Amino acid sequence: MVSTACPQATEIGVSILRSGGNAMDAAIATGFALAVTYPAAGNIGGGGFLLSRRSDGTITFIDFREKAPAAASEGMYLDEGGNVIGNASTLGHMSAGVPGTVRGLYEAWKVHGSRPWEELVAPAVELARGGFPISEELSQSLMRLEKHGAAFPALAIFRHENGAPLGPGEMLVQGALAKTLEMIASDGPDSFYEGTIASLMVEEMRRGGGLITHEDLRNYRAVLREPVKGVYRGFDIISAPPPSSGGVVLLEILNMLEGFDLASAGPLSSRAVHWMVEAEKRAYRDRATYLGDPDFIDMPVARLISKEYAGRLRSDMSEMSTPSSSLSQAPFDPESEETTHYSIIDGAGNVVAVTVTLNDSYGSKVIVGGAGFLLNNEMDDFSIKPGEPNIYGLTGGTANAIRPGKRMLSSMAPTIVLRGQKPFIVLGTPGGSTIITTVAQLIVDIIDFGMDPAEAVSAPRFHHQWLPDLIYYENDALPDSILGDLRRRGHDLRERDPIGDAQVIMIREDRCGASDPRGGGRSLGSN
Ligand code: DON
Repeated sequence: MVSTACPQATEIGVSILRSGGNAMDAAIATGFALAVTYPAAGNIGGGGFLLSRRSDGTITFIDFREKAPAAASEGMYLDEGGNVIGNASTLGHMSAGVPGTVRGLYEAWKVHGSRPWEELVAPAVELARGGFPISEELSQSLMRLEKHGAAFPALAIFRHENGAPLGPGEMLVQGALAKTLEMIASDGPDSFYEGTIASLMVEEMRRGGGLITHEDLRNYRAVLREPVKGVYRGFDIISAPPPSSGGVVLLEILNMLEGFDLASAGPLSSRAVHWMVEAEKRAYRDRATYLGDPDFIDMPVARLISKEYAGRLRSDMSEMSTPSSSLSQAPFDPESEETTHYSIIDGAGNVVAVTVTLNDSYGSKVIVGGAGFLLNNEMDDFSIKPGEPNIYGLTGGTANAIRPGKRMLSSMAPTIVLRGQKPFIVLGTPGGSTIITTVAQLIVDIIDFGMDPAEAVSAPRFHHQWLPDLIYYENDALPDSILGDLRRRGHDLRERDPIGDAQVIMIREDRCGASDPRGGGRSLGSN
């Protein structure tokens, strides 16, 4: 079964499974397909994380997060007065980190691919060359991109030759991207990091005043890391380690929640929402304080994800909201809106969870001339100035400060939940800072509230990230009586747009997948 944010990509994943490929093969083919059919977030010019568990129990985590170019520096997005330069970290060439996706997917293939590499990239080449019909969702997303058309003329590849936007049902053909993918198919990742595609990227950087050099590309490596692991009410949770905050913050939240009887409080009850947001704000405070790239900083990960620490954090929770400002003191000194997720399981029980991103929708909006793909604007995920919020309102300090060659802190949380040493849930979502709380809510919905995946992905969502000190809730998610009760407990609340686009597979007697109704995705089995 394959669950992605885009039906064409789901179908390619399923066709790889049908032709005898395993879940990793399907994940690689699906990843390249999303780079064609879901250009807002599927990518070869961005990065991500892949978590897999083979049926023999071997777990692999591949970090292909972007890195700061060697010429990056701490104050690069500040003016002489130390003020943040508007849009500098979010738009244009300077906002791009060194892309990781192509090396990441190749690493995945080396670890557990069973089909020829070329065969796995080929369906994406075909989709780019032959085109595919634009969905309602893609057409709307391309309309939102229109406002950047004047500043980034290369975005014309998403329009008719006469400049009119492509509408639903019309074909999106991406000839340059097809050629790029064809080189990746036949020559492997070196074509991207050292060959023709690398040269096109460096030329593009020169044209637009960006920092990425040949050396940055040549030096880029995807890294195998130990995922973080914990246990929630007897279920094993495996998720993304730093440089993502995803797994650490998720486990902190779940560990704190274990002390509360959520099941008898009931979903979306004011008690359950209160406990969940109290746990969330404490965990996000730690995110801002401690987490960053493990190749650059020491982090007290084991302590943060321990049950003992969760007990300490729980001890100052009460029936009333704890103001975020009173949580600003970190409890101990350390000792020393577009992304896409997909979930896959094959017939042998191998599972793969992948979250990839360009950061913002369509990343930096820069298309590499002659190569037809978008570059990320992931540099904004660094803390560009202590206390300065990024596009997701997240703040941070030195742990996530810019350094040459460093990976920026992420919230992506591809996650696998085991029951009795067997895969039980494979899940993840986009949503910037809301990724972790959405994954936590889905796990609680399934484990505590007994929902099936379709109910869990449809359930209304809420979110707290420490700062700002607000419970965000989706339009109409919480009835007035619950809102009133939460206000009496001292919470501030703010209604917002839909949160996330989760892709969940749950393994019961049957395999049951669900694609978030907030997006246009699809969950499909191979037989
Ligand atoms: O790595 C991160 O946490 C962000 N760059 C993810 C961005 C994202 O999820 C945007 N989606 N809506």
